[in-house]
Amino acid sequence: MSTTTVRYLTGITTTGTPHLGNYVGAIRPAVAASLRPGIESFYFLADYHALIKCDEPQRIQRSTLEIAATWLAAGLNPERVFFYRQSDIPEIPELTWLLTCVTGKGLLNRAHAYKAQVDKNAAAGADADTDVTAGLFMYPVLMAADILMFKSHKIPVGRDQIQHIEMARDMASSFNHLYGEHLVLPEAEVDDAVALLPGLDGRKMSKSYDNTIPLFVPREQMRKLIMGIVTDSRAPGEPKDTEGSALFQIYQAFASADETAALRRAYAEGIAWGDAKQMLFDRIDREIAPMRARYEAMMADPAQVERILLAGAAKARTLATPLMRELREAVGLRNLAMQGGAATAAKTAKAAAPQVKQYREADGQFYFKIVAADGTLLLQSPGFANPREPGQLIARLKNGDAQAATQVQAWWQPGSDAAQALASLAAANEA
Ligand code: TRP
Repeated sequence: MSTTTVRYLTGITTTGTPHLGNYVGAIRPAVAASLRPGIESFYFLADYHALIKCDEPQRIQRSTLEIAATWLAAGLNPERVFFYRQSDIPEIPELTWLLTCVTGKGLLNRAHAYKAQVDKNAAAGADADTDVTAGLFMYPVLMAADILMFKSHKIPVGRDQIQHIEMARDMASSFNHLYGEHLVLPEAEVDDAVALLPGLDGRKMSKSYDNTIPLFVPREQMRKLIMGIVTDSRAPGEPKDTEGSALFQIYQAFASADETAALRRAYAEGIAWGDAKQMLFDRIDREIAPMRARYEAMMADPAQVERILLAGAAKARTLATPLMRELREAVGLRNLAMQGGAATAAKTAKAAAPQVKQYREADGQFYFKIVAADGTLLLQSPGFANPREPGQLIARLKNGDAQAATQVQAWWQPGSDAAQALASLAAANEA
């Protein structure tokens, strides 16, 4: 990965079945973004988060499969992005604990999801802790671990999630302040241009309003649902308002500018609601039908989806495992044989390493020598007319440059272990 690559990360909680609103507002733009050059995308199924609000094992399993199949059917390419299931990455709960220990309880007291339940309890005259699991309270820490585990830069979220990203930043700064610069501070990216789709009743499409159109219902069922979108009572032939028309807004989310303009004219010319609904159905079906076929194939072969997710987890862990090792080391969960940790081990390596000394002789020439920690002369260079040449040669030796090693081959003192000396020079340089 080049240092300029921006990392985007998105988590999808595995409760529920994706609907058209999820598709237009989240899935479609995310799949499009994953194809942009210069970015690295992480998409994961937040199944640990699902346990916070759902205690039905079958539903969790079903929803995980449906959501994974949906994203793949919508064109997410698992070769190109990181696509994995949260619970396949044991480093995430491990990091959650390290973050828990640097997070003030007071910070979590202010989290919206937790506070909403406390407020609800107060309104009902119930105890403040009623229906509050520690999972709900800790939700922002788990989410921070998701984000920080992969050093993500940008987190595309809705407004309701901004607070969680800010908390993740707080946790990363606390950790870095205590243990050194290990974690990257993420930023929320809120795209207000993303369409909010109205549902069947004209309010925002949302599971909690029970007004959704599931993305991959069978074709005929989708037609029936679309025929049920609320309209006003204007008769065929009467001009119709696009303003405030749920049907028109949903059409717009799928159509080109020209198609939208055509429907606008049809409204002005008094198109019958039944005909407008048929146009909407045809337009949506044109986009969804090929995906629906892919979706149905995957739902019929869950083992294939499972394989894709496990491969994604293995890929994600090539990043998570080394970072977790680094973090354990940083906080002091260490190999006991390395007293003082890697930092001290590095100091020890430095102290034991041979020294390079540059100097000028009375003949006006520039020399260098390599001397072992105990003072034994290991290498003696010939004289150079200017100091730059030996300076550069030394820098290359310290970087482990093989050509530089060949260049100095003849200058080692008899009996000195050149390979060993160069290795410890390079190691001390890295430490
Ligand atoms: N909490 C998010 C939601 O309900 C889902 C989520 C879990 C998430 N972990 C995340 C989103 C990390 C972004 C980054 O929508």
